[in-house]
Formats: sequence, C-alpha cells, structure tokens
Amino acid sequence: MARKKKAVVVSVANQKGGVAKTTSTASLGAAFAEGGKRVLLVDLDAQASLTFSLGVDPDLVETSINEALLGQCALADTIIGCDEGIDLVPSTIDLAGAEAQLLPRPGREYALQSALDEVLGDYDVILVDCSPSLGVLTLNALTASQGLIIPMSCEMLSHRGVGQLLDTVADVRRLLNKKLTVWGILPTMYDGRSSHAREVLADLGGRYGVPVLDPPIPRTVRFAEAPAIGRSILSTSRRSKGAIAYREVATGLLPRL
Ligand SMILES: Nc1ncnc2c1ncn2[C@@H]1O[C@H](COP(=O)(O)OP(=O)(O)OP(=O)(O)O)[C@@H](O)[C@H]1O
Ligand SMILES: [Mg+2]
Repeated sequence: MARKKKAVVVSVANQKGGVAKTTSTASLGAAFAEGGKRVLLVDLDAQASLTFSLGVDPDLVETSINEALLGQCALADTIIGCDEGIDLVPSTIDLAGAEAQLLPRPGREYALQSALDEVLGDYDVILVDCSPSLGVLTLNALTASQGLIIPMSCEMLSHRGVGQLLDTVADVRRLLNKKLTVWGILPTMYDGRSSHAREVLADLGGRYGVPVLDPPIPRTVRFAEAPAIGRSILSTSRRSKGAIAYREVATGLLPRL
C-alpha cells in the first residue's frame, strides 16, 4: 500500500495584535478547501476568535486544543467538522492556563507537534492560528511547522515586531526545528489609495530578506461581517476583492503542499 502523504503544517503568526492572523487562517483554509485540499485549522489562541469565526461557540466545546496539548485527550477527539469542508481543532479560554501548565514540563515546545502527529496522514495542510505573543504556545506552533506566514497590516507605522519574530524563527531553527522556513510576509488591510500603505509595501521586500506574498490583501469591510455568521468571506462574499486576493495567495502557495 502506498504510504499516505503527510500534511504540511503552517503557522500563521505575528506577535503584533490585530494584523489579520485569524482572518488569514480562515480565508486561506477556505481557499485551500475550495481547491480540493483536506484542511485542518488549529486555534492556538485563548481568545478563540478562529473557533468563533467558524461558527463554533467556545463555551460549548468539551475537549479543545488545551486538553490535547496537555496529553489529556487525543487531538483527533477534539476535531469538529465545519462548513466549507474544513475541520477545526477548537480553542477555549482554558488555553490561557495551558502556557503555565506546559512551562515546567520536559519537551514543552514539542507538545503540539506530538499531538498533531496522529492526524498528519488525514490532511493535506494544517494551518495554526497563533495568539499575539511569542510565548510557549507560539514556540509550539513554530516547532510543529514546516512553513510560517506572517500577516502584517500595511497600516502599521512600525513593524519592528517582525524583526523580533524572525530572530525567534532563527532560534527555533537552530534549537528545535530545522525544517521551519518563512513562506513570507502577507501584507493585509492594504489600501492602494494610501501613499503610506504603498510605501510600507514597497519597503517590505528588501527590509527583512524574506519573500512578500502576492497580492496584498485589500482592506474591505466585508471581513468584519463574515465571522458574525460563522463563515469566511470566501463563501459569504465570493467575488469580493478580498476573497479573490486570498484565493490568489493560496494558489501561489499550492506548490508547497
Ligand atoms: N482585509 C481586511 N480589511 C478590513 N478589516 C479586516 C481585514 N482583515 C481583517 N480585518 C478585521 O481586523 C480585525 C482583526 O483581524 P484578526 O482578528 O484576523 O486579526 P488577528 O491578527 O488574528 O488579531 P489577534 O492578534 O487579536 O489574534 C477583525 O475585526 C477583522 O475582521
Ligand atoms: Mg487572532
């Protein structure tokens, strides 16, 4: 029997808050699913925004990523099938305590990698939505991943945080996971009419020595509306410029899956 191909694991991370990590995770996941890929999304944030945005109420979740990380249940037992052909490992506010519980444990950075191991054969791609921090949970995501996507708002006056994140990536590669590569910075909330946004985008390419994914994701109010009904912008607003941009970015990443 042919050996099943294993999923490619990709972290969506930036310790800066509100840069569209969760929106990008849900939208790229939906785009990959539209393209026939088997997709698992992992909510690794105690805010549980991804869980909410897929129409799952975190307060009603019985087993979540928290129990899977602590070895109290199998990760497969936490998976919820959602619309748009996507599976979800949900989060709850309990995850806020996981960081402290993991800290004294041996091999604490490997908890996610080892929890995901049993489901790698069931998916083509696993996207991990990180919280806005560089704590032990984000280190777990980077340790479990082959790829990293860094969403970055084009509205930001300063993106100093990206340098710190790339330093962390270098440490992770040296100490924990040699396979990690930065797939690219994903410019989000881009307003092509703003000269500031155009300058931020033009400057990005050279500044960090990592790829800039194309096209940038335009700023559009559609994104604020989608999570309210538990579906991503790709199905609520199929032809909006935001949905089209995420599809194009996903298509560009397909050769890596
Ligand atoms: N392209 C866009 N245009 C307009 N609004 C957007 C866009 N992308 C995301 N948003 C909105 O910006 C806000 C922050 O997005 P999101 O929750 O995805 O960011 P995040 O990086 O995951 O935040 P956190 O750091 O809190 O996890 C949300 O209200 C979302 O609807
Ligand atoms: Mg988020």
